[in-house]
Amino acid sequence: MDKEVSGAGQLSGELTLPPDKSVSHRSAMFAAIADGESTIDNYSPAADPQSTLACLRQLGVPVDTDTGKENRIRIRGVGREGLKEPLSDLDCGNSGTTMRLLSGILTGAGVRSRLTGDASLSARTMKRILEPLRQMGGRITGRHDNYAPLDIQPDGVIQGIRYPLPIASAQLKSAILLAGLFGENPTEVIETGPSRDHTERLLQLPEEEYGNGKIIRSSLRSPIPIQNYRVPGDFSAASFWLVAGAIHPEAEILIRNMGLNPSRTAALQILQEMGADIEVRESEVSGPEPMGDVTVRSSGLRAVNLPPSLVPNCIDELPVLMVAMCFAEGRSEITGAEELRHKETDRLQAMANVLTASGGKFEVRKDGISIHGRGGSYRPDPAVFESEHDHRVAMASAVLALMADGRSTVRGAECTAISYPGFWSDLKSLTN
Ligand code: S3P
Repeated sequence: MDKEVSGAGQLSGELTLPPDKSVSHRSAMFAAIADGESTIDNYSPAADPQSTLACLRQLGVPVDTDTGKENRIRIRGVGREGLKEPLSDLDCGNSGTTMRLLSGILTGAGVRSRLTGDASLSARTMKRILEPLRQMGGRITGRHDNYAPLDIQPDGVIQGIRYPLPIASAQLKSAILLAGLFGENPTEVIETGPSRDHTERLLQLPEEEYGNGKIIRSSLRSPIPIQNYRVPGDFSAASFWLVAGAIHPEAEILIRNMGLNPSRTAALQILQEMGADIEVRESEVSGPEPMGDVTVRSSGLRAVNLPPSLVPNCIDELPVLMVAMCFAEGRSEITGAEELRHKETDRLQAMANVLTASGGKFEVRKDGISIHGRGGSYRPDPAVFESEHDHRVAMASAVLALMADGRSTVRGAECTAISYPGFWSDLKSLTN
């Protein structure tokens, strides 16, 4: 599907975000292996978290979505030992989080299964999880020892390992800690580059400072808590509006119940450092994740150098931060972001193509990009933007298109449903 987006005269209104994707996946998976019933409010209706629910059902977990309240789900946990061998392949769709985290659980539990994905997911590296899971005694293999389909055999016995993470990846960290839940002796994951901490938080895993980072432990003795809470609004989804509101000359957007987990919100700090007028009102903490209401207004932005240490905490926001940088005064730099090349598509290249189409000035490198900002009066060329079926590229392109003088087209626009099914209607409501 193609979507036409015209330059907007103004952006104003109030938004309710889609529920956080990372928290949704985890809440359902952890509820599934808890002993007892969990009720999760505001579970994401987006395609990726729905892939997780479909897989859990195939594993014999009772998941009730017909609870009488929109986006409330109820999961009757089957405990660590209760997952059943699925009768057919577990289709993870486009979702790396489903595939990597579920691999940790299924390898740990020794459930014979096969995990498949769409063309994009089948081309993403899985070696990063296969090696440590096998080091732990798990029996998991992949196509060409690197890619989905992944096959898990039941005869592994999980041994705890001490594992310094070679890359800052929450999916990798989580896969190991989840397999660790099935080992007699503790698994210890050492993290120096901090990535999102939802797994540690929701499972209440013990952790302590270790050198410049932290060490997190899991084992058969770690209790798996029932998951009863409300999923916050997705900060990564909000980031498109934070940027749109800051760069547009006539904008004021109020965003309610945005997740404010500090391991996710580096893009907020970066935008504020660039001079964005963003006001945050944190709510009383009522669950495991902080949240609050946020207002963003038109701002004059200055260039920024984004250091590699911040990259893992804004990895999903980098495409739209690149858009913000086009409207800043001066030259901005992103370095240490090679991981972007391993997402749903090669997001560095895909965004370079988007910027080229709109007449942007930049140089792309193996691990980053330099962007020559044109200031607040910059109006990109209207263009045809290729999403490459990547939801974040599609939404970042749409934000750029809102600033153009004329009408642009976002190709493959339906992929926004992967994380943000209401994106196009929210865009329309802000421009009306
Ligand atoms: C996610 C972690 C990130 C992120 C992805 C969701 C998660 O991936 O890009 O959208 O829920 O753990 P990596 O951990 O591989 O960086």
